[in-house]
Amino acid sequence: MSAAASRRIRRAPAIRALLLQILAFPLMLATVWLLARAGMPLSLFGVTLVQGAWAALLSWRAGLASWWRAIQFQFPPALLLARQGADALALPPAAFLAVFLFLLLLYWSTFRTQVPYYPSGRRVWDAVAAQLPADRPLRIVDIGSGLGGLVLELAGRRPDCEVTGIELAPLPWLASSLRARLAGSRARFLRGDYENLNFGNFDVVFAYLSPAAMDALWRKAAAEMRPGSVLISYEFTIAGREPEQRLVTGDSRKILYIWHF
Ligand SMILES: C[S@@+](CC[C@H](N)C(=O)[O-])C[C@H]1O[C@@H](n2cnc3c(N)ncnc32)[C@H](O)[C@@H]1O
Repeated sequence: MSAAASRRIRRAPAIRALLLQILAFPLMLATVWLLARAGMPLSLFGVTLVQGAWAALLSWRAGLASWWRAIQFQFPPALLLARQGADALALPPAAFLAVFLFLLLLYWSTFRTQVPYYPSGRRVWDAVAAQLPADRPLRIVDIGSGLGGLVLELAGRRPDCEVTGIELAPLPWLASSLRARLAGSRARFLRGDYENLNFGNFDVVFAYLSPAAMDALWRKAAAEMRPGSVLISYEFTIAGREPEQRLVTGDSRKILYIWHF
C-alpha cells in the first residue's frame, strides 16, 4: 500500500472515530471510578452513556463533522442493547458474524471513500440516456456502478455503445455481473477503484458518489478527460466548477450536473 493510501485511511473519519472511542475509554474508567467513590455507582448502561459522552466530546474537540457526535454518543449503549437483545433472543454469535460479513461485502471501503451504496433510479437513467449523442458509438462508464442498474439500462438501449461499470465493493459488483450474465447483456463490469481507471478512454463518465468525493473527481477528470467528452454527476456538484448544464430529474432537489470538456 502506498504512503498516500495509508495516510488517507488514517485520516478517514470512521477510523478517527474509532480511535477517539479508544481514547475515551480511560476517561470513562476514571469518571466511573470517581462517581463510585462519591457514592454514585453506575449501572452498565450508565457506564456506556459515560463512554459515549466522552467519545462525543472528543469528536467535537477533534473537529469531526457534527453528526459524528450523535453517532459516537449512541454507539456504546447501542452495542450493549444489541448484546442484551441477542441474549434475550438466544441469537448465536454466528448471526452477528453473518450480518457483519454481509455489510462488509456491501460497503467494503466506504469508511475510506465516504461513498456508500445507494441506487439512482429510472428517472435518472432516462435523463442520462437522453443526453447521449445518438449519431455515434460511445464509450460510457459508470464509476461506482453499484448493482449495475444504469449500466444495464444503457447497454440495452444503446447496442452501438460500449458500456462499462466499475465498482469497488465485492457484493454489488458480483450482483451486477450476475445480472449482466443472466440478462445476456453486453455490459461490462469491472471490480476495482475508479481512481485507477483512465478517464481518457471514455466519452461519457457518469458519477453518483458523495460530496466528499467530488473535488478529487474533478482533479482526475480535468487531468484525463479528452476534448469532446462529458462528465455527468447525479445529485452532487463540484465546488467552484460551474456545470454547463443542470437537468432536473423529477425530484427537484436532485439534479444531473453536466460538464463538457
Ligand atoms: C451512490 S452508489 C451509486 C450506484 C450506481 N452508480 C447507481 O447509479 O445506482 C455509489 C457506489 O460507488 C461505489 N464506489 C465508491 N467509491 C468507489 C471507488 N473509488 N471506485 C469504485 N467504486 C466506488 C460504492 O461502493 C457504491 O456502490
